[in-house]
Amino acid sequence: VPDESVRDDRFRLDAETADRLAAEFGTPLYVISEGHFRSRIRRYRAAFEAEWPGGQVAYASKANSTLAVLAIAASEGCQIDVASEGELRAAQAAGVEPARCHFHGNNKTAEELRYALSQGIGMVVADNESELHLLHSLGIAATKLVLRLAPGVDPKTDAKISTGQADTKFGFGSGGAVAAVELCRSLGLPLIGFHCHVGSQLIDPEAQRGGAEYLARFAIEVRDRTGFTATYLNFGGGLGVRYTGIDAPLTFEEYNRIAVGAAREALAGSGLDPVLGQEPGRSLIAESAVTLYRVGVVKPVPQRTYVSVDGGLSDNPRPAMYGARYDVRALRDEAPPARFTVSGKHCETDLLFLDVELPADIRPGDLLQVLTTGAYNATMASNYNRYPRPATALLREDGSAVRVQRRETWDEMLAREELPEDLL
Ligand SMILES: Cc1ncc(COP(=O)(O)O)c(C=O)c1O
Repeated sequence: VPDESVRDDRFRLDAETADRLAAEFGTPLYVISEGHFRSRIRRYRAAFEAEWPGGQVAYASKANSTLAVLAIAASEGCQIDVASEGELRAAQAAGVEPARCHFHGNNKTAEELRYALSQGIGMVVADNESELHLLHSLGIAATKLVLRLAPGVDPKTDAKISTGQADTKFGFGSGGAVAAVELCRSLGLPLIGFHCHVGSQLIDPEAQRGGAEYLARFAIEVRDRTGFTATYLNFGGGLGVRYTGIDAPLTFEEYNRIAVGAAREALAGSGLDPVLGQEPGRSLIAESAVTLYRVGVVKPVPQRTYVSVDGGLSDNPRPAMYGARYDVRALRDEAPPARFTVSGKHCETDLLFLDVELPADIRPGDLLQVLTTGAYNATMASNYNRYPRPATALLREDGSAVRVQRRETWDEMLAREELPEDLL
């Protein structure tokens, strides 16, 4: 069992700040530390730069596209990876130039592409042959084109977040990738290089190492076979984070040494000297935020004691989707610890956090903080059971707190309804 104290520098709130924020903004509440997030980005960029001068980091906005988060990532020098028109519009609303955005997706529509191209998107990462024809018909000349490859590596992570294995809907497999390069050249598309992303929450870097090596080898092979010289290779994101004490993710430095090292080794002596890119989401933002809940009900049953909080599946679907586990902390610890199951408010079983340690006298009104909720929580939130999505507070570097996303209002929740008059 790894020692939880080793390198555990996840952001967490002290009791006094938690009380203040809960009183000011209500619960459930996402709380992001600006300083923590900025320092994660700086460390990632520095670790990459140390291994590959000029390496470019794009922040994967699907992890958390709250505008303040996008603006901070951009101000720290990141490009922004968007996987939909909505994410592109969010980046624009955060003041990010589309020229700094990469557009992803396995089924981009003509409307989405038309919008992105009209706004001057910086890079399109094409997924399949029909997209190449679509881009040609839309006229992509002013931007840069990258082909997403499926490197056929099988990451050790949840099947729902594996994307790089051979059986995948994403990217060009080994059979079609060289033909896709030839198609780009015959259509006159502005191809600059290749991309892959093999999976997410990877504690073992073997798949990303394999992906980076695959990209490099493919770039050499394609140059030798077709004469096309890649000037850009991006091996995606995927570095895991610490959700609980049993996760021991690599440091940014270790990870970059391994993954970039694989590309460097494969490129050595080839004459190719591409710009390298990466696209992390989770590893930049996840550990920089917590969710605050208030306990409503404590109910012992013969098998366990349930602690019900004022949120759940609608603000964090990951436990239900992937069986994801989290560290949950009480904000007072007067009593010795006992084991509880924290459940949400929803009409599924909505078991959020199984078998967690909390003070034995935990009671209604207490606050709980859940660590490592910065990624794939707010962006995956829903209105299930008609709960309003929570607010987000940003703890600034001077210690002040500002609300950067307010709780959804009842009017907003009902705004899309179009009830036929005769049904009223
Ligand atoms: C294409 C692409 N790039 C980057 C990411 C970000 O991954 P992560 O948040 O694991 O770093 C994802 C996530 O699924 C992705 O699909």
